[in-house]
Amino acid sequence: MRIVVSAGPTREFVDPVRFLSNRSSGKMGYAVAQAAVEAGHETVLVSGPVSIPAPRGLAAFVPVVSARDMLAALRKAVKGADALVMAAAVADFRPARACRRKIHKGEMPGAIALKPNPDILAALSRGKGRRVFVGFAAETERAEAGAAAKLRRKKLDLIVANDVTRPGAGFEVDTNIATFVRPDGSTETLPLMSKAELARKIVAQVEALAGV
Ligand code: CTP
Repeated sequence: MRIVVSAGPTREFVDPVRFLSNRSSGKMGYAVAQAAVEAGHETVLVSGPVSIPAPRGLAAFVPVVSARDMLAALRKAVKGADALVMAAAVADFRPARACRRKIHKGEMPGAIALKPNPDILAALSRGKGRRVFVGFAAETERAEAGAAAKLRRKKLDLIVANDVTRPGAGFEVDTNIATFVRPDGSTETLPLMSKAELARKIVAQVEALAGV
């Protein structure tokens, strides 16, 4: 299969030296890309800025910075792909205006006006066809209910929900505690495991959903 994986945060610039972003380390998405390569799939990794090395054996590595860059890169990458695993932590908002020069402290605004970024999965799922789309849901409460709503809204085949406030789950750590939520409402709660192990399970789900 040709599998596209997105990973990492996006950066939304306020001026040339400052940006809005989030705590994503890229570890979960990179683990999925690695598992896909190891399972023999042609794998494309579209990644926001992270400090970990890309897995060996990718068909392509596409670095991006902002949410809009990521949408453009993924639009191209999913053409001709069989599946998309969207592990990136896309910034939902960007500054309404990015200043072209550094804002000095004497002229610092009291507030930064924001505007919404595109919802990448929602945008891509309009032309999804028979492709398998897997999303993640990082929640801080009622993870499964929130994930089920996102799965429907974004027309996903599977969503991997996790409560990022639980010890052993979430940002920067090497483990995760996830629940698979499916379109028929069924859920499968997995025990604490390494992101590498969870990644292999996600790739196995993608294969099953694609009928491989
Ligand atoms: N996602 C996306 N585009 C965005 C935001 C999120 O494609 N602008 C994707 C993420 O990569 C993830 C899924 O949508 O696979 C759910 O992301 P999450 O941040 O949990 O949800 P949001 O849609 O941002 O909803 P909310 O802010 O209400 O939690």
